[in-house]
Amino acid sequence: MPSKEILALAADNRQRFLQHLNVGEAALIFGNRLKSRNGDAEFPFRQSSDILYLTAWPEEHVALFLANREEGQDIVMFVQPKDELREIWTGRRFGPNGATDVFGATEAFEYDQLSKKLPKLLEKVHTLRYRFADSPENDRLLMKSIAVARRAMRFEKGVTPHTFVDLHHSLHRQRLCKSNLELQVIRKAAELTTQAHINAMKMTRPGIFEYELDAEINHTFRKSGGTGPGYTPIVGCGENAVILHYIENNSELLEGQMVCVDAGCEYQGYTGDVTRTWPVNGKFSDAQRQLYSAVLAAQKHAIAAAVPGNTFQDVDAAAVRSLTEALISLGFLEGDLDTNIKDKTYRKWYMHGTSHWLGLDVHDVGSYSDELGSQRLLPGMILTVEPGLYVAGNDESAPQQFRGMGIRIEDDILITDTGNENLTLAAPKEIEDIETLMQEYSCG
Ligand code: GLY
Ligand code: MN
Ligand code: MN
Repeated sequence: MPSKEILALAADNRQRFLQHLNVGEAALIFGNRLKSRNGDAEFPFRQSSDILYLTAWPEEHVALFLANREEGQDIVMFVQPKDELREIWTGRRFGPNGATDVFGATEAFEYDQLSKKLPKLLEKVHTLRYRFADSPENDRLLMKSIAVARRAMRFEKGVTPHTFVDLHHSLHRQRLCKSNLELQVIRKAAELTTQAHINAMKMTRPGIFEYELDAEINHTFRKSGGTGPGYTPIVGCGENAVILHYIENNSELLEGQMVCVDAGCEYQGYTGDVTRTWPVNGKFSDAQRQLYSAVLAAQKHAIAAAVPGNTFQDVDAAAVRSLTEALISLGFLEGDLDTNIKDKTYRKWYMHGTSHWLGLDVHDVGSYSDELGSQRLLPGMILTVEPGLYVAGNDESAPQQFRGMGIRIEDDILITDTGNENLTLAAPKEIEDIETLMQEYSCG
């Protein structure tokens, strides 16, 4: 059962969305389905982020129809029916009455009524907001409903949908700027995320396995009310950290290596996304310190560029300039800084972007550019800043002492009216802070 706060948050999101619909405009949004894992077992259910955002409805098989009409607002939900027998096997259901009484629907029906009711709902709607090409099944149902509505309304003018707007250009623009209610929840996700990184740092020592850190992180998330990770955690020691999406998490941490941990807690649907890299024995070697300092400096430059008025692209440019400068001074690259940046020579060791939007999805919705170019940063947006350097063990073009090292440092940055706020600063990233914490707890 979602908490009162989460129901209020969803109601606020929904009202803000409805306020932007003119009379005759509607939106149709579908939830997720359970996915089979293997023999009678399913993956844990995760609701679609759009449905979570607008309703907090936790069950599969749901469709939401929102409209502004002359007579008022439609908040119509189609949900699983109550079913005593099924509920004994698979859990409680709210049913249509729960949708109206608890979740704020103006009307609710059983899901199998959708194909019958939708044509009528589409009458007198001229503009429909819908995400085509996500689900062929949902697309087919909508097409059929439009055809039925057209036939029913063929002698009246302009009264079935003739304009379709991708949710990406309406709902997802709204999701990009977080409300104060959302920020309260996001701060909790950030807090649990940073606590998990601190706990993982404290228990690190040579001889433990990557999965032990993974387990500690998950334990921290769950014991404080988080759902678990918002994406599969990456725990890569030594050269495993050079694989950007390494999720095997099954190697032993060895003396002299670093470990790179990218993990974020999902709390009430919203996720953190933090990466820290630290030495397995609690003390950075000279080479580790040099490469780590290059990434940390780049991250600080990029965070400084994440301010209102700058663009998403400006943040990346700041990280790239700083990393490229370091790659020249550390002996990876030769020549002039601007030429190296123009030729993208840094790409061999920094092959991903610096940021992405963050929210209900780890790679959250919202455009990165519009007609005017790269998206301008506005108060309420949250983006990650996550530069890294990745040097393969067999990379003969790299100075010997840095081979086999992968380093990424990632924080979650909220754009404010006057600059930004680092929501995940509590996870140590200064060399001295990491060494002090580790020596105090696990290596002393
Ligand atoms: N954790 C995935 C990412 O940092 O984008
Ligand atoms: Mn990220
Ligand atoms: Mn990450």
